[in-house]
Amino acid sequence: MSTDTASTGAASTKDGADPSLTVRDNRTGTEYDVPVTDGTVRASDLAKIRIDDEPGIAVYDPGFVNTASCRSAITYIDGDKGILEYRGYPIEQLAEKSNYLEVAYLLVHGELPTHQQYDTWEHQVTFHTFVHENVKSFMEGFRYDAHPMGMLLASVGALSTFYPESRNISDANIRQMQIVRLIAKMPTLGAWAFRHAQGKPYVYPDNDLGYAANFLSMLFKMSEQRFEADERLIKALEVLFILHADHEQNCSTNAVRSVGSSQVDPYSATSAGIAALFGPLHGGANEAVLKMLRRIGSLDKVPEFIDGVKNGNERLMGFGHRVYKNFDPRATIIKKACDDVFEVTGVNPLLKIAVELEKVALEDEYFVTRKLYPNVDFYSGLIYEALRFPPEMFTVLFAIPRTSGWLAQWLELTEDSEQKIARPKQIYTGKRDLDYVPFADRG
Ligand code: SDX
Repeated sequence: MSTDTASTGAASTKDGADPSLTVRDNRTGTEYDVPVTDGTVRASDLAKIRIDDEPGIAVYDPGFVNTASCRSAITYIDGDKGILEYRGYPIEQLAEKSNYLEVAYLLVHGELPTHQQYDTWEHQVTFHTFVHENVKSFMEGFRYDAHPMGMLLASVGALSTFYPESRNISDANIRQMQIVRLIAKMPTLGAWAFRHAQGKPYVYPDNDLGYAANFLSMLFKMSEQRFEADERLIKALEVLFILHADHEQNCSTNAVRSVGSSQVDPYSATSAGIAALFGPLHGGANEAVLKMLRRIGSLDKVPEFIDGVKNGNERLMGFGHRVYKNFDPRATIIKKACDDVFEVTGVNPLLKIAVELEKVALEDEYFVTRKLYPNVDFYSGLIYEALRFPPEMFTVLFAIPRTSGWLAQWLELTEDSEQKIARPKQIYTGKRDLDYVPFADRG
């Protein structure tokens, strides 16, 4: 008689216990020993549990809530303790002491660069910021009101046609060259999508500026000789880029890995990541947060909105997370960055509503029992708006830095001998063995 510890809470490991499960198939009375490795069992071991020539046991896990798809050494998250580390370095230290390009190097190469390695990396990225003039013409073809994420998604995919050698992903040097190109060109494409929506001329990269400063220049430069951004805003953007760089197997990274598993070029795989990030449940949440705050409109409307959430008529965008069941460490850092930015731009009036929403939610049983806390998207939009970005640009500001994470994960996939083309099973629920019905006999 098995004791169901799930109903009584977690069991504890006995000293010297054999790291395996003994699974009894009550349909046949057969027992199977299933090894436990790194807290997981291999689905292929479960497939050995079968009756006659029926398919073996598979795992059904919508949304992969409890399924590991890969082994990765890039990002570590402890959702209960609010821990986030890139290649073992705590996000708090990287946000305080590093810059985005150095973090991108760390994610892709696995170690912090030496001074020489950093200088080479910075030179490579800086001198690949330009895109082919035909890409500019391609972007000019979009409607005046095209969503910048749609423009970015299409333009990055189109880049694969300008670098056909990128399809030879088995060549390590070719892989590295495309990684540099994509990290370098994302700000250019993102800025041009913004300028397109504004009906302003596209601004070319200024290779004498740093990564974030150059991005701000391509966004906001007008007739001045050189765009001079406030150092505090450059630092805030660097911090935001660092915080958004990677986040283990999130929806868009899973898309990059799944598409990349077909051995397509990295531009096409990155384009799939951009598409996934566009969704309001994922990277599109920062845009949705601002629209939500604007819709609430004033402090006295917060209780009514919270009631709407609890009745299931609303969703508190920027709250909740698949992994963080406590605070999202990035939200804590971004909330602090708000103060630095607002020192320059003036306080965003919607901040008061956001702070009140957080306060009310964190005291309300509905949110506490569901372990819903502010995530990375809850406060980031307030900063972006203070930096004069329209909400449609917020997810572009997420996609640009996440490109280094996507590519680090893609590179790890290409070098993982265990990986193969992604092709999950299904549980078939449709009809079977029907005969074709001619039009005349159809109801
Ligand atoms: C990002 O995965 C990553 O790492 C993503 C990310 C990254 O860096 O890549 O961190 C970036 O995508 C952050 C998340 C941004 N999205 C939002 O802020 C949108 C609002 N949040 C949710 O829709 C939701 O919390 C998710 C999508 C983030 C997580 O969804 P899950 O893990 O599938 O959880 P769930 O939808 O099953 O919710 C569990 C319960 C449900 O209630 P019950 O059905 O049990 O009654 O919590 C409720 C949900 O209804 N719930 C919410 C809620 N989020 C979950 N209720 C109200 N408001 C919310 N925001």
